[in-house]
Amino acid sequence: MKIIVTGGAGFIGGNFVHYMLKEHPEYQIICLDKLTYAGNMETLEPVMDNPNFTFVKADIADRDAVYALFEKEKPDVVVNFAAESHVDRSITDPGIFLQTNIIGTGVLLDACRIYGIKRYHQVSTDEVYGDLPLDRPDLFFTEETPLHTSSPYSASKASADLLVMAYHRTYGLPTTISRCSNNYGPYHFPEKLIPLMIANALKDKPLPVYGKGENVRDWLYVEDHCRAIDMIIHKGRVGEIYNIGGHNERTNLQVVKTVLKELGKSEDLITYVTDRPGHDRRYAIDPAKIHAELGWEPLTLFDEGIKKTVKWYLENREWWEHIISGDYQQYYEKMYKNR
Ligand code: NAD
Ligand code: TYD
Repeated sequence: MKIIVTGGAGFIGGNFVHYMLKEHPEYQIICLDKLTYAGNMETLEPVMDNPNFTFVKADIADRDAVYALFEKEKPDVVVNFAAESHVDRSITDPGIFLQTNIIGTGVLLDACRIYGIKRYHQVSTDEVYGDLPLDRPDLFFTEETPLHTSSPYSASKASADLLVMAYHRTYGLPTTISRCSNNYGPYHFPEKLIPLMIANALKDKPLPVYGKGENVRDWLYVEDHCRAIDMIIHKGRVGEIYNIGGHNERTNLQVVKTVLKELGKSEDLITYVTDRPGHDRRYAIDPAKIHAELGWEPLTLFDEGIKKTVKWYLENREWWEHIISGDYQQYYEKMYKNR
């Protein structure tokens, strides 16, 4: 089996490359990645010498480059992780989100249509469903929940999902879509909540909590997400959507306090800052479908996963210190100064 993994130099894509080479050592994995600010070759360093792994630097929206790769490699499966993924960046600079997340997905779908494919899998997000009220803990996102996006990021991901569904219906392309809740774990870029709080706490810098810190996310350890995608590409039904999440809901404040406790740091570091515009209140997945059809369930619950994650950041300081010493400084100033 030959699989093109787009966005494999990023957080989840990188974990997926590691996971697949470990679980299926006979598969050939080709990573296609543009290496934006979020792509990091240090994440792929452990597999660069693996003869079944190839890295190709290219933009998924570059039709010529994508077609040339498909022509040469004739992949069996494509798993599309490549995306602009940060909600806050989508608020300040939406254009690149439309280009990569929508146009790029369209180019990949065309390549699959032209060169033939056994499966195209789109890695989507629960954010396409919008949000749930904080005072209705009985409500969850199912695959039938209507699309109702809040940010340019989620709107671009929902648009990509619609394209995937259209290519399935119109051209009979064998597609699947997964919509996962918030991931955390190793190799997570420190602009996102958990790694940002770990990095700041370790430097005794303020921990910027948006609003009152009462927004709720449904946290999934990244390896559980990788295992779910592995199951979907092998056993999932073509044309279907699968929600992935594991009833690990926490308010942002609970998450930040847990990180501080794990690191033995004071809660005095917490600083409340101006809220994100359009901030989604609560995400919560109902994973009944993937559980019933594929037998998937999360293996790592939040309390254990956060311990493993904090340990990883302590043991791999070089990986994240390289990131925060570069352009990240300007990003941080722009987003958090005067907030
Ligand atoms: P990330 O930002 O860490 O990584 C994105 C990767 O895509 C980077 O390596 C980047 O270089 C690459 N990339 C960006 N634009 C590209 C382009 N035009 N062509 C080729 N490569 C490009 O993102 P992530 O958190 O690993 O998310 C991966 C996917 O999972 C995304 O599609 C995201 O929407 C989805 N998702 C993420 C989460 C989460 O909690 N992080 C949850 C659900 C779904
Ligand atoms: P984030 O990791 O950006 O993921 P998403 O917005 O896609 O869920 O943010 C997770 C939650 O944490 C979200 O409610 C916004 C909040 N947040 C903060 O309070 N402070 C921060 O510095 C960041 C990056 C996020």
